[in-house]
Amino acid sequence: MNVIIEAKGLTKEYKDGKEALRGLDFTVEEGKIFGLLGLNGAGKTTTMSILTTMIRKTQGKVIVDEIDLDENPNEIRKNIGIVFQESTSDNQLTGRENLQYIAGLSGMSSQTADQKINELFEKMGLKESADILVKRYSGGMKRKLELAVAMLQNPRIIFLDEPTLQLDPASRAEFWNYIKKLKERTGITIFLNTHYLDEAEKLCDVIAIIDQGRIIAKGPPDIIKNTVKGDIIKVKVENETPSFNKIIQDVHGVLEVVKSNSYYLIKCENSNQVAPSVVLKIKL
Ligand SMILES: Nc1ncnc2c1ncn2[C@@H]1O[C@H](COP(=O)(O)OP(=O)(O)O)[C@@H](O)[C@H]1O
Ligand SMILES: [Mg+2]
Repeated sequence: MNVIIEAKGLTKEYKDGKEALRGLDFTVEEGKIFGLLGLNGAGKTTTMSILTTMIRKTQGKVIVDEIDLDENPNEIRKNIGIVFQESTSDNQLTGRENLQYIAGLSGMSSQTADQKINELFEKMGLKESADILVKRYSGGMKRKLELAVAMLQNPRIIFLDEPTLQLDPASRAEFWNYIKKLKERTGITIFLNTHYLDEAEKLCDVIAIIDQGRIIAKGPPDIIKNTVKGDIIKVKVENETPSFNKIIQDVHGVLEVVKSNSYYLIKCENSNQVAPSVVLKIKL
């Protein structure tokens, strides 16, 4: 399998000192849907913004489609399409005009653009709505239009930042179906940020869970689902010893221990049973 995105030791410290990413390592295989799953503030948008060259990383190495981010960010930008978390379409224009506007900015000839735009409307099932104002579009239609914008230049990778955030259940399901079909039809690679486990599960071939700027689990959806099942106990320890991790790991019912900043995250099947044992161990 061909690796199309690779990140190694990726960190991001914002100007105010906030460490949003603390050393991410991951690879995305070509033609797959890769999901970055995490709570609000985990670092999903930051990661995507770096990969798409919208913001600068602090440290680490990033390769996108065989291009080193440090060497040629402009070249990366040519091969990708982005759907942002916030809606970017102009409500005062029709769907078609939105696409024509972006195509014009990218320097596409109007003949090529018109053909491509018709094709996209057809495939998205938006043909009937192409010439009505976007302010009349439903949330689901707007997202599809933004996906069409991202697809305009036949990108090799599409980045989606929480694409179904404000959609009703029916529109979400429809959007998922569309993404799946898109992948099957074109073999495009999709990088998806989401905080919905069900979305990640339904859509993704591989899921990486991000928590406070670190990837804490990675794998196919069925494995990740089992990892996510159960509880997480977060503890802060004063006077911790080097063997702390091992001691907690040995507590009955503990599945995994992850050090996250000054905290330990303890994954377990049932926190009600495990928490007292953990506290006892720490005190001893
Ligand atoms: N421009 C910024 N300056 C400082 N901190 C930021 C900035 N953007 C995001 N953050 C912080 O970085 C962390 C990760 O944010 P973000 O990547 O947006 O997370 P997510 O997309 O997973 O919700 C959060 O704590 C957020 O508050
Ligand atoms: Mg975000």
